[in-house]
Amino acid sequence: MNIKIRSFNRQQAPKPNLTSLEIDKVNKWVSESEKTPLCLEIGAGAGLHAIQWAKDNCSERLIAIEQTHERASKLKQRVKNHSLENILPIQSDAMLFIPHYILENCIKDIFILYPNPNPKEKDKNQRWVNMPAMKNILATLKINGKLTLATNIENYANEASSGFQEQWQLNLLESKASPFSFNPRTHFEKKYLERKNTCYNLVFGKEKNHQ
Ligand SMILES: C[S@@+](CC[C@H](N)C(=O)[O-])C[C@H]1O[C@@H](n2cnc3c(N)ncnc32)[C@H](O)[C@@H]1O
Repeated sequence: MNIKIRSFNRQQAPKPNLTSLEIDKVNKWVSESEKTPLCLEIGAGAGLHAIQWAKDNCSERLIAIEQTHERASKLKQRVKNHSLENILPIQSDAMLFIPHYILENCIKDIFILYPNPNPKEKDKNQRWVNMPAMKNILATLKINGKLTLATNIENYANEASSGFQEQWQLNLLESKASPFSFNPRTHFEKKYLERKNTCYNLVFGKEKNHQ
């Protein structure tokens, strides 16, 4: 991979404003992450995956991060409607929220499902695999923690596959292309599968000797 990734300075990045209730809950969940596994979803959109995940994984917790007001409001309303106690919706830029609020080595799973593809060459630094903040994001993963990334763009999947292995030293545990044997997990996955697009699902693992 021939892209140079700049370093991300947490001190210089603005700390997102959260409510005191949100801060207390994030701190509590992080401090309890040894006994109650904690997961993150980045770019959770309106929350289809987050809600289903929370129902399917009652003994774990998910912080679902979405930066746009419109989608985060829908996500928050859905969480309320479903009365789910194990999901915390946060409206924030994940690149700022994670380094400021999540400790290292406490996250079991990170989900990035159908991120904005930024397909233009000039925008390649805005793809997750090329982002400086990925260093801080991956530092929050536990050893044996996993990163799941889905996309409908083959080039994005290929770049992520090589970049997460070579640049970020993760192991590729799984690489699948649709048709998957499961129902659509997210609103975007539903749209792409209905259009008969191929969807790619990559799962990476963080090993013991990860630097
Ligand atoms: C293409 S949508 C996919 C939404 C959802 N994951 C799905 O598959 O239906 C990408 C989402 O990521 C959000 N997003 C992009 N960058 C983000 C960031 N830095 N922090 C939090 N959310 C982000 C966007 O606002 C958008 O809702």
